Amino acid sequence: MPETVEGNLYDFPKYYDLIFGSDWKAEYDFLLACFAKHIDRSVHRLFEPACGTGRLLVKLAQAGFAVSGNDLNPNAVKFCNARFQRHGLESAAVIGDMSNFRLRRKVDAAFNTINSFRHLGSEAAAVGHLECVARSLVKGGIYVLGLHLIPTDCNPTEDEAWSARRGNLQVNSYMWSKGIDKKARIEHLGMYFDVFTPTRQFRLVDHMEYRTYTKRQFQNLIRKVPELQIEETYDFTYRIDTPIVVDGSTEDVVFILKKS
Ligand SMILES: C[S@@+](CC[C@H](N)C(=O)[O-])C[C@H]1O[C@@H](n2cnc3c(N)ncnc32)[C@H](O)[C@@H]1O
Repeated sequence: MPETVEGNLYDFPKYYDLIFGSDWKAEYDFLLACFAKHIDRSVHRLFEPACGTGRLLVKLAQAGFAVSGNDLNPNAVKFCNARFQRHGLESAAVIGDMSNFRLRRKVDAAFNTINSFRHLGSEAAAVGHLECVARSLVKGGIYVLGLHLIPTDCNPTEDEAWSARRGNLQVNSYMWSKGIDKKARIEHLGMYFDVFTPTRQFRLVDHMEYRTYTKRQFQNLIRKVPELQIEETYDFTYRIDTPIVVDGSTEDVVFILKKS
């Protein structure tokens, strides 16, 4: 049994980024394809709410986009900005709450791909977030929002595992559902990182809560922010030529929300 440490996984951006940073390419290519397909103007300014370590932002900045992001976690923001500086780029991230922010200049697109949105624990926070995004987008701009819905016609997936290695650092990650409180709309999740370095092995264990959305609950939420409409839906296979129809068995969805 390895040494076990309890903590907030987001406080350890080096480990988070090793696991999820290696997965950037499919999302990156998909984002570019979404901009080309769903925005009728040239795209230059981008914003990522809850940008974390900036694994996607930095690739987009290197491709010439003007990018910015916010995140509640100061360690993640510091890691993100240090990464930008290492690449000779200006800092792009600020500490901020995605349910209450204002950008100095409007952006052509915003994105939030892997469930970060579900960290917002109330309807008021979710509406606040979408209102902030809508206010931040130019007319015709899009918000690419990826999340897992709770299926109503089948059982939800209960766990996911990832693994990555860089040099002497190996991180294996496991996330599992501890159960869903349908009334309170909370999914309780366990997650750990097993970290292996040449001198230490330990398990970093966290507990998270995600707000739950069925298809209908998500549609009801979107109706509360009339400036945003669902333009298209995809899934986490990120195939731009294969939009999906969301039904009662759908779990992973990427909504393309368009600002009217
Ligand atoms: C799953 S990570 C995703 C990070 C990044 N978007 C990515 O794709 O790698 C979720 C992030 O949401 C951030 N977060 C949670 N609640 C937030 C809030 N209210 N406002 C801003 N960031 C938040 C966490 O600190 C964490 O960095």
